[in-house]
Amino acid sequence: MKTRMSFLALVVLLTTVSPPAAKGQNESSATGPIARPWWKNAVIYEIYPRSFMDSNGDGIGDLNGITSKLDYLQALGIDAIWITPCFPSPQVDFGYDVSDYVNIDPMYGTLEDFDRLAAEAKKRNIRLILDFVVNHTSDQHPWFIDSRSSRTAVHRDWYIWRDGKGPDEPPNNWQSTFGLSAWSLDLPTKQYYYHYFYPQQPDLNWRNPAVEKAMFDVTRFWYRRGTAGFRLDAVDSLYEDPNLTDDPVLPGKDKFGRPNMEDKYNKKLPEVHQALQRLRAVADEYDAVLIGETWTSNVAQLEEYYGTNGNELQLPMDLMLTNLRLSASEFRDHVKAVDGAKGWPTYVITNHDIRRSYSRYGDGVHDDDIAKMVAGFYLTLRGSAVMYYGEEIGMENHDPITKQEVKDPIGILGWPAEKGRDGERTPMQWNSSVNAGFTTGKPWLPVPASAKTRNVETESKNPNSLLRFYKEVLRLRKTEAALREGTYVPLNETDPNVVSYLRQSKDGTILVVANFSGQAQSPHFDLTKQGFPGAKVTALAKNAAPVADGPLEEVRLEAYGVYIGRVGE
Ligand code: GLC
Ligand code: CA
Repeated sequence: MKTRMSFLALVVLLTTVSPPAAKGQNESSATGPIARPWWKNAVIYEIYPRSFMDSNGDGIGDLNGITSKLDYLQALGIDAIWITPCFPSPQVDFGYDVSDYVNIDPMYGTLEDFDRLAAEAKKRNIRLILDFVVNHTSDQHPWFIDSRSSRTAVHRDWYIWRDGKGPDEPPNNWQSTFGLSAWSLDLPTKQYYYHYFYPQQPDLNWRNPAVEKAMFDVTRFWYRRGTAGFRLDAVDSLYEDPNLTDDPVLPGKDKFGRPNMEDKYNKKLPEVHQALQRLRAVADEYDAVLIGETWTSNVAQLEEYYGTNGNELQLPMDLMLTNLRLSASEFRDHVKAVDGAKGWPTYVITNHDIRRSYSRYGDGVHDDDIAKMVAGFYLTLRGSAVMYYGEEIGMENHDPITKQEVKDPIGILGWPAEKGRDGERTPMQWNSSVNAGFTTGKPWLPVPASAKTRNVETESKNPNSLLRFYKEVLRLRKTEAALREGTYVPLNETDPNVVSYLRQSKDGTILVVANFSGQAQSPHFDLTKQGFPGAKVTALAKNAAPVADGPLEEVRLEAYGVYIGRVGE
């Protein structure tokens, strides 16, 4: 529990007893001067539960399936799993439409299955992060069913209801990010309700204290059940302008053929931060961590999510990284800005809403080398990282070919310009058997033919596989103090092709060199300024980098090669 203490009390405490370690969170070290919460440097592995492992043959992954793969995850070397919503839901948005926040959807299992998963994960020192859909519920949630039943219902004001501007005219021009108007007329009470996403996902009214209290209690329920924290869904759409000011219309059309708009009055309102700070106070009662789905357009916006004095989110995700092209200068400049910002960085290269990084960055010739280089790069930065299931085996986007196959409603609505997100959500590829070992039934999304070779079992046997490379890098995060505690020191900052840096701590120095180009490169190094006049290097992990251990002068890298080595004199 975080308590405020007076200055006097603090002096008394410091002079009488040694400072207490914050409850439960810290790396245990009697001698270590810095108490580090577990999530600092953690690698959090995102699991889309429908697609990870099916234990009962219905073609849909489930909690018991996840439990059965914990040994794999432990051996991979991750620290926590984040499970996207597994709560009861009509599944219009595959769980992001929650109809009961304090239960498990029967298709994924039961609360007992959850408890077993939590216990088994704990045995393996894997923390559990759940997904908290804060902005909206399902239209089938009892709160909304009551809310729409009459204008005087107890829960009426739990959602955002307004009269239309005129007959058949919504209250204003706000648009849903999923392709339609953000307002739906509800005939029984002749008012419109607001939904930033699908009509089946009505926005909660966070200006109503009863909503806030109910939602905070949801987090308490899961903290008490052993959850180490939450990934907060769609936080920036939590509040809207109460005056319903029209959003500015921009030139051009979006992929649904609507005018482009700036979501000025229904996103990123300052009230978002105040609510998150109050949610954080609840998290602090349980030493829990809050991870944000924080889509930002610049580093200053990202910084705001840490709050003043770190009183907001511990890990707002840097999702800007997912928008970068594979370019040395873009990555270098971006990382320098994030590393220099206040707050602990949280890097992400792919997730369930965007094209898989393997497909985004692949050039069709060096795909595995590129994937290794990207992994060797973002997993050795100063910060925490969020991985997406299947990233470690190089799963590709497997997009629907016809509109009839599409499951994700935005793909049905926006076809063909918007194919939806099915492609990045296909079943995890475990082995080369039918359906990649994911299910004995018919998988809810098809498994690509490439799964025959690109799967956990096959790649585990191949020392040069992407999977083995991920394991090596993840292991280094555990064994090398410099990768945990070291500062980030950029090197050769004008090189147009290669990004190089040191991670430097009192316990050691690590050099990382990543070739972002399709040609061989041989960058030169002089680490005199960094305290290593006659530096020698020893390789810890490398790909397409034929560098012998010994004096460090140049590091030769083939196309998209990456080198991680220990620096000494
Ligand atoms: C977030 C989720 C996405 C979902 C949306 C609505 O962006 O990541 O999958 O569709 O919120 O809840
Ligand atoms: Ca199942």
